[in-house]
Amino acid sequence: MLLPAFVGGAWSPTKAAVMHSMLELARLQPGETLWDLGAGDGRFLVAALERGAKVVGVEIDPIRWFICRLRCRRFKDRAQVIRGNMFHLSLEGADVVTFYLSQAAADRLRDKLERELKDGARVVSNRRPIPGWRPSRIDAKNQVYVYVIGEHHLEEGLEGV
Ligand SMILES: C[S@@+](CC[C@H](N)C(=O)[O-])C[C@H]1O[C@@H](n2cnc3c(N)ncnc32)[C@H](O)[C@@H]1O
Repeated sequence: MLLPAFVGGAWSPTKAAVMHSMLELARLQPGETLWDLGAGDGRFLVAALERGAKVVGVEIDPIRWFICRLRCRRFKDRAQVIRGNMFHLSLEGADVVTFYLSQAAADRLRDKLERELKDGARVVSNRRPIPGWRPSRIDAKNQVYVYVIGEHHLEEGLEGV
């Protein structure tokens, strides 16, 4: 049960208002595929499913993974919940990647996201800025950072909320 704290961050659910902000700023469209890295109890996945997305959740803690699966069951083939370590999975094909993890995990994810995501994919981080990347959109109040692959090295283009 202590493992998650060392490999990405301990469980703490995202608040409903922050989830809403993250999904709005991601500009998630029905039919797009969203990955939540460290899916916890699945509440974020459900919010994305209710907006018509397909989702893939990755969760390392077996108890949270089980709860997450139960929560997503009613969405059938639009939801996939993987028990495992996000660093061992390929994120290719994701339109949106979301996470609420430790700063160390966000730092570690940077090169993986850079390598595996396609241009135009959005990376939405709850509270953890990605070092060296410039966000395209920010919700300063809720500390939500959105990066668009292909734009994240640009000097200008910051939109506040
Ligand atoms: C702060 S919680 C966020 C839960 C959910 N995304 C939300 O926003 O409500 C972080 C979750 O990431 C999981 N986690 C930590 N490291 C992980 C890893 N390397 N691979 C998969 N899951 C991980 C933890 O078990 C925990 O449930």
